Amino acid sequence: MDVRVFATPDTLQKGALDGKAAIVIDALRMTSVAATAMEHGCAGLLAVAEVEEARAAARQYGALLGGERGALKIEGFDFSNTPQEYTRPRIAGRRLVMTTSNGTRAILAAAGARRVLLGAFVNASAAARAVDGEAGVGIVCAGTLGAFTLEDALAAGAIVERLCQKTRAVRLDDMALAAHRLYRGARGDLAAALAETEHYGRLTRLGLEADLVYCLREDILGAVPERQADGWFR
Ligand code: MLT
Repeated sequence: MDVRVFATPDTLQKGALDGKAAIVIDALRMTSVAATAMEHGCAGLLAVAEVEEARAAARQYGALLGGERGALKIEGFDFSNTPQEYTRPRIAGRRLVMTTSNGTRAILAAAGARRVLLGAFVNASAAARAVDGEAGVGIVCAGTLGAFTLEDALAAGAIVERLCQKTRAVRLDDMALAAHRLYRGARGDLAAALAETEHYGRLTRLGLEADLVYCLREDILGAVPERQADGWFR
């Protein structure tokens, strides 16, 4: 298995994901939300770039709306980008349309991959299992507004760690090696490793510490949202 890690969606060269399975990561917090919603019975998740597009899709499909701008809930939306809001009573059997600043954009950037899956710390082992047997895996970190973020690189490293545990025949590109080594150095205390980083700090200042604690827990979920033929993740 060849594993490449893309530090941001902007580093995806044209065709880089052709024929491959892509795992998109926005550990804080969009892909953690997506895995949580799916674990709790969400009937399907559609990722769109713009707020108005999300509103129109939700009307068309009778779906709930989730996401953020500036890390805050969008006016008229049912959910913010806090994973703990996506409880079974609120999301089971319902479709969800999401738009976020970086996570949903990274998903759209990875659209050319043969398979697109959503990974995070919360479902790292399940995400690694889901791509078992693939010849090529591209892990796409969402980053923030085009910039590298340590949390996504660490989550990429967490998935690389699980892939390496499963098989010796894993070839890592330099970014995958770097992510893996960063994760190995940080896994004892992910919160401490991220304490001085930008997005972690922003969420802390907004009083979202509980979200951070949740999103940094490893392997608490078995769900791995995967894009289906109709474009929805299930
Ligand atoms: C995003 O997609 O940009 C993030 O999930 C932002 C956030 O944490 O709200």
